[in-house]
Amino acid sequence: MALSGLEKIAIAFLGASLSYVVYSLYKVLYTYIIGPVVNKVDYKAKGKWALVTGCTDGIGKQYARELAARGCDIVLVSRSMDKLKTTQEEIEKEYKVSTKIVQVDFSEGDHIYENIAKDIADLEIGTLVNNVGVSYAYPEYYLDVPDWDKLMSTIIKANIVSVTKVTGLVLPGMVKRGKGVVINIGSASSIIPSPLLTVYAASKAYVDKFSEGLSMEYSKKGIIVQCIMPGFVCSNMSGIRRSTFFAPTAKDFVKSALNLVGTASRHTGYLPHSIFVKAITTIHSLTGSFGVWLVTRSMENSRNRILKKYKKN
Ligand SMILES: NC(=O)c1ccc[n+]([C@@H]2O[C@H](COP(=O)([O-])OP(=O)(O)OC[C@H]3O[C@@H](n4cnc5c(N)ncnc54)[C@H](OP(=O)(O)O)[C@@H]3O)[C@@H](O)[C@H]2O)c1
Repeated sequence: MALSGLEKIAIAFLGASLSYVVYSLYKVLYTYIIGPVVNKVDYKAKGKWALVTGCTDGIGKQYARELAARGCDIVLVSRSMDKLKTTQEEIEKEYKVSTKIVQVDFSEGDHIYENIAKDIADLEIGTLVNNVGVSYAYPEYYLDVPDWDKLMSTIIKANIVSVTKVTGLVLPGMVKRGKGVVINIGSASSIIPSPLLTVYAASKAYVDKFSEGLSMEYSKKGIIVQCIMPGFVCSNMSGIRRSTFFAPTAKDFVKSALNLVGTASRHTGYLPHSIFVKAITTIHSLTGSFGVWLVTRSMENSRNRILKKYKKN
């Protein structure tokens, strides 16, 4: 039976769609199930110590805990001494590993890196998690961000300079030993349209590109470099307290993301976040300016809600 031209096009379309679905399912299966088994990373074997920046809350604290659970001693690098001490006590008691506190405020100048260098000079650091990050207090137009000078400078120092300089301190030891893991925490905001969070999202685009280049340069020296770009996670920064399908607890998020080291070098770290990003980027590419209008409106609504709350208090 001869097929008409239209029927041939329909069959080709169905075939292509089916192949896409099968490929996507295989990718999910490999990323979350096969890869983590085949490429399982022994963090302790990469080096006795793991260093986590911004480790006293949210995502960073969970990285510190999960790496301690995998047998690493932890260098805790963060700002508030009381929170550092609480985190230290918790981790040492729960996981029976050693910890070392390095108190720094990443919004300060270059001298902090000299202090960090001195504090970690003798440590064999096998895993580095560049987690510290600062965002806007609420979504806002670039020129209207409150305390403009200070916040812009803090975002650049905490989100860009810290990743660059702490990596510069830790990577030489890894290269010398021919092994190590560098995990840089970016944000999905750098992949999806992010009006009213412009400078934050741009700073995370740096983290993404920095990680890509670093991976190209150092994977052949035995270093795994991964950039994790989360969507919403419950934390002080997001202001989300109750977990949902799209906004997991920091604990669930990090459990998922840490499993992907060695399998995915650039990833959201969490399946629902990948679905969210795919949906937004597809809407954006299909609808262009309508997509931008939709996102801008939703960010403006969120800004207005928060400003109203501020006014009430
Ligand atoms: N939560 C999300 O929805 C989300 C989404 C995408 C990406 N991310 C990224 O994930 C990372 C962690 O975010 P999070 O939500 O877990 O944040 P968080 O709950 O606000 O925790 C931030 C951590 O960083 C420390 N910190 C903040 N400013 C610092 C500074 N100037 N110097 C030194 N330490 C500082 C905090 O210590 P103190 O308490 O002492 O300030 C705290 O330990 C960030 O890079 C963020 O951009 C988060």
